[in-house]
Amino acid sequence: MDYPGCSPSIMIEKDLDEVIKIENYVFKRPWTKNFFRLIISDMNNYVLSLKKGNILIGYGGYHSLNKDANFLFKKNEHTRIIHLINIAICPGFQHKGYGTFLMNRLLNSARAQKRDYCYLEARGSNSRALSFYKKFGFSIIGIIENYYPQEKENALVLGKNLLNIPSL
Ligand SMILES: CC(C)(COP(=O)(O)OP(=O)(O)OC[C@H]1O[C@@H](n2cnc3c(N)ncnc32)[C@H](O)[C@@H]1OP(=O)(O)O)[C@@H](O)C(=O)NCCC(=O)NCCS
Repeated sequence: MDYPGCSPSIMIEKDLDEVIKIENYVFKRPWTKNFFRLIISDMNNYVLSLKKGNILIGYGGYHSLNKDANFLFKKNEHTRIIHLINIAICPGFQHKGYGTFLMNRLLNSARAQKRDYCYLEARGSNSRALSFYKKFGFSIIGIIENYYPQEKENALVLGKNLLNIPSL
């Protein structure tokens, strides 16, 4: 699905005030502006801001791992992996398809770079995000105990093959 008037663009410094507002609304442990600065300055990251007109309504991005960081898999089953580092849509715009639109852009970009696998971490309690990822065909590939120590909460690690699978 495409959205008229809705465009993803590479996240830049100018976006960060709006990004931080959304980040603070939607996450229990929001990232700081300085952390986002580091994220967008890393050449191995691909991070998009999603704007509707002039309003920033969401963002998301992934990190492209080096071949030698292939620690998740046996026998080099996947060699060109991405790590989805973040995705968020402003509360007033959620459940209207924008997250799906943005995720498709991210995954299609990774596919265009011949990336073959995507993984991410999500809180076990984040049922909305889990439902979102499930719709994209992600499945649980592991659990990291106490990944969110302040809440003593585990992370679910979800993964998905990127090649030969059409987008939603
Ligand atoms: C997860 C998130 C990015 C999804 O974006 P979105 O624009 O709301 O999602 P979409 O409208 O594209 O919905 C796609 C699917 O996500 C799930 N979903 C989205 N909103 C939901 C809600 N309020 N309740 C339950 N499921 C929901 C559903 O499976 C939905 O499919 P459906 O429309 O057939 O029900 C968004 O809800 C969000 O920003 N959440 C807070 C931040 C967050 O948790 N990010 C993930 C970190 S791991």
